[in-house]
Amino acid sequence: MKKITIAIDGFSSCGKSTMAKDLAREVGYIYIDSGAMYRAVTLYSIENGIFDRDVIDTERLKKEIKDIHISFRLNKETGRPDTYLNGVNVENKIRSMEVSSKVSPISTLDFVREAMVAQQQTMGNEKGIVMDGRDIGTTVFPDAELKIFVTATPEIRAQRRYDELKAKGQEASFDEILENVKQRDYIDQNREVSPLRKAEDALLLDNTDLSIEEQKKWLFEQFNKVSK
Ligand code: DC
Repeated sequence: MKKITIAIDGFSSCGKSTMAKDLAREVGYIYIDSGAMYRAVTLYSIENGIFDRDVIDTERLKKEIKDIHISFRLNKETGRPDTYLNGVNVENKIRSMEVSSKVSPISTLDFVREAMVAQQQTMGNEKGIVMDGRDIGTTVFPDAELKIFVTATPEIRAQRRYDELKAKGQEASFDEILENVKQRDYIDQNREVSPLRKAEDALLLDNTDLSIEEQKKWLFEQFNKVSK
């Protein structure tokens, strides 16, 4: 079996990372959650007063972007990678509602995207990687052997995120999450730099009515076809 590059793109909260993580673990590939990297930059900006109320100090962020080091380390308990920001585990913090509601404007900044894409391409230098995000099949790895574009209705995606936050014991309001999902869809699809769109050669997966198991089965079939 040859090692390949797998790009999984799609809307927020549509289960991309669950499927990407499972596939990576199963086939022994590296998994990179590119959204976590934009979330980590957002958290850095909030914690350092760069993103204060609704204003981003872009000049400061531009200067400091080189000091923002993001890495992933396996969490032995969950068997999944946790996100580290300058050496500190921020896996829980980057999933908060505050970060979720501020990450879109951060991810529209061209210099932030340039810095993240460069780091992502370095991580994918050797094949055997599954990366999920918005622009992986179009910009980060346009030559990926397997590209998947995932979608589902905003309501089902909001419900999934609501359940996820509740399970972690975090405060959540369904209406607020739905609004946030819709807002992010709009910004992700309409931003000037690397808008969310399906690569021409990506396979479309609408998982609104699929269980995680059904989705997994479909994904493995695609993987086996390509990596033979
Ligand atoms: O997948 P997620 O919801 O954790 O992503 C968080 C935000 O980061 C989302 O609003 C879009 C942005 N993002 C991006 O612009 N490009 C990527 N490759 C991944 C995420």
